[in-house]
Amino acid sequence: MDRSSPLFGLSARAKAQLIAKLSSASSLRAEDRPPLRSNRHETTIFAPRLDVSELDGFRELRMIREAADFLGIADPYFRAHEGIAGAETLIGNKTYVNFASYNYIGLNGHPHIANAAKAAIDRYGTSVSASRPVSGERPIHRELEQMLARIHGCEDCCVLVGGHSTNVTVIGHLLGRNDVIVHDALIHNSIVQGAMLSGARRVPFPHLDHGAADRLLRELRPRHGRALLVIEGHYSMDGDVPDLASFITAARRYRAWLMVDEAHALGVLGQRGFGTADRCGVDPSDVDIWMGTLSKSLVSCGGYIAGRRDLIDYLKLTAPGFVFSVGMAPATAAAALAALELLEREPERVHRLNDRATLFLQLARQGGLDVGGSIGASIVPVITASSIRAGRLAQAMFNRGVNVQPILYPAVPERAARLRFFLTESHTEEQIRDTVRILIEENRRVEVSPSDLAAVARHLGKLAPPARST
Ligand SMILES: Cc1ncc(COP(=O)(O)O)c(C=O)c1O
Repeated sequence: MDRSSPLFGLSARAKAQLIAKLSSASSLRAEDRPPLRSNRHETTIFAPRLDVSELDGFRELRMIREAADFLGIADPYFRAHEGIAGAETLIGNKTYVNFASYNYIGLNGHPHIANAAKAAIDRYGTSVSASRPVSGERPIHRELEQMLARIHGCEDCCVLVGGHSTNVTVIGHLLGRNDVIVHDALIHNSIVQGAMLSGARRVPFPHLDHGAADRLLRELRPRHGRALLVIEGHYSMDGDVPDLASFITAARRYRAWLMVDEAHALGVLGQRGFGTADRCGVDPSDVDIWMGTLSKSLVSCGGYIAGRRDLIDYLKLTAPGFVFSVGMAPATAAAALAALELLEREPERVHRLNDRATLFLQLARQGGLDVGGSIGASIVPVITASSIRAGRLAQAMFNRGVNVQPILYPAVPERAARLRFFLTESHTEEQIRDTVRILIEENRRVEVSPSDLAAVARHLGKLAPPARST
């Protein structure tokens, strides 16, 4: 969480004061509690139990919820979808046009995939009941890995049970305290967490700026043992893409590993939908570590690393998140494999997805909306630069039958608050035209005035008792 970002547009000072007030409220509660007695030793324990509400992040979350309640913005999170979420979805027994799913190429629920998953359960059960090296290996794992390796143009591949945890364990394992990790400033949280676990020095460069990455490596490389340069193939928040060839040059020049996270690129970029190498026409072996997830276009769950055979061998025998974790469930592996088969057989799905996303992007731009640097491949942000505005706009869209997720502070800095539209190949042109028309109408209608912020601050201030003078 970025502690320096303004909360809902409040100044840093106002935010700090509010947090201080809420902190004093929770410590008051603790001090007011009577001393506890321990049964075992008959000693009096004065310390109250450590409470999660003492965490700064917890108090900040409470403030955000209070502010949203006060502003009449309904909580947009954890809404239950009552069927398959694609271009449409059922929420509260009502059908919405949906822009909040990773079902990019419309494969979720496809009979070929559902049947493959069911057949895998019939044959292997619902679990492999052990880690792969021990006795959890099943033929379906290798089939999936070999197909992923082929699609990425790599020698081999290794699948793990989670996408986020793949980044954490692999980066945490490959790098160590004497090393340096240079990454895009908007890189996914899983990469930041992996870098933190590794203990390596972690230095972000401005979004997409390969020149800055090059300069950082030039400066830092001589002082570190190994170096890792990490980018995404298609950025999940902004829908923009890196200049891969320039990052390859920088990585080679300074003997750094280059890692590309393809979570939102596979099934989306390139003529065949095979991802960033397919889009850029580079030799895939110029990238040392291709990472991807099975949870987006491949409508399953899990993560993978593709690369040279020696890298994959090493990870399979030593990466803690692989060695000490259960093997991927049979149905999960079978679903991803069947989805890859469809991706290869039906590239028209990728073309349709790109057409729909481009249409959305063009219409939104023509309507004067801020869509950032999106290339219109599957992700289009509509930047509101205010969490209140984003929350209100998402709610207005929902009231008009469109489900789109607002991305609010602290997930992004306040000035980057937005609605994020995920397009799918199954959206019709009519759905897209209607949605952008509604969006433009509602964007004009939604208002946020400075007095909203003042009222929020007053309201939050009233909730917390005045800070005690010591
Ligand atoms: C760029 C990126 N990497 C990794 C992940 C983690 O993948 P998963 O959700 O499959 O765990 C995500 C998730 O959205 C992502 O956007």
